[in-house]
Amino acid sequence: MAPKRIGVLTGGGDCPGLNAVIRAVTKTAIFRYGMEVVGIMDGFTGLVEDRMIPLTEKEVSGILHRGGTILGTTNRENPFRYPVYEDGKIVDYADLSHQAIENCRKRELEVVVVIGGDGSMHIAHELHQMGQPVVGIPKTIDNDLMATDVTFGFDTAVQTATEAIDKLHTTAESHHRVMIVEVMGRNSGWIALYSGIAGGADIILIPEIPFTLDGVVKKIRQREEVGKRFSILVVAEGAVHPEKGVIYKEYASGKKVLGGIGELLGRDIETLTGIETRVTVLGHLQRGGTPSPADRILATRFGVKAVEMVMEGETGKMACLRHDRIEAVPISEAISAQKKVDPEGELVRFARAVGISFGD
Ligand code: F6P
Repeated sequence: MAPKRIGVLTGGGDCPGLNAVIRAVTKTAIFRYGMEVVGIMDGFTGLVEDRMIPLTEKEVSGILHRGGTILGTTNRENPFRYPVYEDGKIVDYADLSHQAIENCRKRELEVVVVIGGDGSMHIAHELHQMGQPVVGIPKTIDNDLMATDVTFGFDTAVQTATEAIDKLHTTAESHHRVMIVEVMGRNSGWIALYSGIAGGADIILIPEIPFTLDGVVKKIRQREEVGKRFSILVVAEGAVHPEKGVIYKEYASGKKVLGGIGELLGRDIETLTGIETRVTVLGHLQRGGTPSPADRILATRFGVKAVEMVMEGETGKMACLRHDRIEAVPISEAISAQKKVDPEGELVRFARAVGISFGD
């Protein structure tokens, strides 16, 4: 029998296009298949704490172009390792997955559509194995999910980063400086590579290609020799510093995230070359704002496909884009490996051909 009621949640870090997916899922489920849709608040937290709202056409109207997620999200609470707080501090972790599943039963959610990155897909996979049917939709600005050619959110993040590089270009040129732009991407270099090529960077440093400080300085010097008195360097937050390794910063809460390599490189370059160097960390700007048309379209395609998968009983699977077709792949396959830039691949080769250095 066709499902009558589904839940939808957004998990992990947000990205532009989440609302476009929520809208597509809701509209398709209601208008095409006559289902009821329940929005689960704040990712898996809402599933554990039973915080849910009905989603009708009213809730999803006017949200296509809006960044963020009307449902809220979190990248902390995992039902299988749920933080126990005392005085605002995490003191322990508990397995509350049974509570999450019980809430699905209570709310009669026959399938839960999970819109998330690899962390959320791992959780979705485990819940599915415990008997709660799920369908996945891949999102992340990092574009690091193996099973799909691209995730929505990536295009907008690249656009934001490219605009920033364009702006930094003119000031770099005026002041004859080295400008470093640190971009997100976790342990893969997709955002750095795409925005670096699009923004005409001179040097791109990514986790997949080990670099040396000599390599970086060599490129800056080569440019000087031909009269180019400024350089633009784009570095991925997960790039590996030749002496200090992967760089993290720690928040007051104790949470560690990637970040800080730009600042470190800035000091290295200024010391080694004597050229004034400035660093811009784009940070969460890359996750915010209006989704690009490409992301809105991809998000809509994923949303519609997810509901079709629900109807066809294709649960335990994730919608993905392959050769411009939206397909369904087992979530287990989608989370089997992280998608990395191929150091020998076409894009890196073409970037090198137009003179971009990878600092190697
Ligand atoms: O996965 C998306 C992402 O923005 C990464 O690029 C980045 O490393 C991380 O999330 C930042 O996480 P937080 O939102 O916890 O600062």
